[in-house]
Amino acid sequence: MTEFSWQLRTAPIDWVSDDPQLSGNFAPIGPEIAADDLEVTAGAIPPELSGVYMRNGPNPEFKPIAYTYPMDGDGMIHAVYFDNGRARYRNRFVHTRGLETERRAGRAVYGSVMRPFPVDPALVGPHGDPGPVKSGAYINILRHGDHLIALGEAQPSYEMTMELETIGEWRAGTDSVIELGAHNRRHPTTGDLFALAYSVFEPVVTFHHIDRAGRLKRSFPVTLSMPSMIHDFVLTERTIVLLVGPVVFDVEAPAAGKPFLQWRPELGTRIGLIPLDGTAPRWLDAEPFHVFHFANGFERGEEIVVDFVRHQSFGVRSGGGDRPPMLHRLVIRPGHSSVDETPLADFMTEFPRINDRHEALPSRFAYLPTLTETFGIDHPARAIFNALVKVDTETGATVRHDLGNRIAGEPVFIPKPHETREDAGYLAVYAYDPQTASSDLVLLDAEHPDSDPVAVIRMPQRVPQGLHGNWMARS
Ligand SMILES: [Fe+2]
Repeated sequence: MTEFSWQLRTAPIDWVSDDPQLSGNFAPIGPEIAADDLEVTAGAIPPELSGVYMRNGPNPEFKPIAYTYPMDGDGMIHAVYFDNGRARYRNRFVHTRGLETERRAGRAVYGSVMRPFPVDPALVGPHGDPGPVKSGAYINILRHGDHLIALGEAQPSYEMTMELETIGEWRAGTDSVIELGAHNRRHPTTGDLFALAYSVFEPVVTFHHIDRAGRLKRSFPVTLSMPSMIHDFVLTERTIVLLVGPVVFDVEAPAAGKPFLQWRPELGTRIGLIPLDGTAPRWLDAEPFHVFHFANGFERGEEIVVDFVRHQSFGVRSGGGDRPPMLHRLVIRPGHSSVDETPLADFMTEFPRINDRHEALPSRFAYLPTLTETFGIDHPARAIFNALVKVDTETGATVRHDLGNRIAGEPVFIPKPHETREDAGYLAVYAYDPQTASSDLVLLDAEHPDSDPVAVIRMPQRVPQGLHGNWMARS
């Protein structure tokens, strides 16, 4: 049983929305709490686990004026700390300038990325987030060097303490705030971080090369043909691989009654191979598709292998009439200017993860959520999953753990200490039961994910459906 818990902040969310992406387990929560000695309802927490699983997600405190999931909101971090077979929990908002502005106003003042909204400068103040879209730092949470960083989408990121106090906008050792994307990649040899920030106004993405201690070494631009949405990329030992799908921003479009963000398949998808020193990229052309997330990328002889979730177009609803997003592999042969693409699995998915020790190095196993026929609850929100699948990318074999009527999120791989086999570890995933409105953190054996869970840990409050997280071993 939970021995005790205490509230750090009591304000509940006092509004409701008819937006499916703000309803059910997508509805935000208000209280920031801490709870020790979480209840384990099945199995046992492996005593050798020492570290914290943190996860970020959009959790708007005030009822939004405009909202586009998953591209708006206030960040909230949920953290489960493991030590000696016990677990404790804490959650906190990321205290961004945008959230502080809205707290001063007592209401939402920013627009959405799909509906930018001018903000009254008097509300923002001299040090506020000027908008028109809030920099919410709601997508990911990453530790690099001694820095814990909450990340948004091509926005200022926020450094936090391991107990989730917000320190402030991260400057990576410079005099100014740097904008970062939600997904950043660590070099397997140097430990340096490569980060990307795209522009919604200019046809350019900026890469930041950050050393292993968290100091910016250099930034370099890559020129595109249109301002493009690029949510993720992959690194190999020698190359940044940038997939630029035809999801473009057109700043003139809203005045003509057209959307700011558009799917323009006639532009095709371009694959950029960018040397890590920022010298001129080489571009290859492919048929139009879109990528939100990559599982991994690596070199294999003279080939570059890229595993990713392929979207046939932008905005495909999972399980809808169009071809759903699925795990695919690109094999790029730069010497022959050729690109081959093959499906690796035939189920709807998103949020692919691997054992991050294999990031930018050859990897065999991917772990992905999916939705199965055992889910029997009417839930109108997008991005609903109820099962996790381990895919062997060499054999095509799949192993599934089905959670039935519980809604799952991104699986995060926790490596077993002192073991080096790629799949020696645990998968951590939040599972929400709509019938009891309760959340569990489920730990699965990554070698045999179809087995009974290693541990089911009851959360002391509902954990809303979020986006990305990471395991941070005690260092
Ligand atoms: Fe993402």
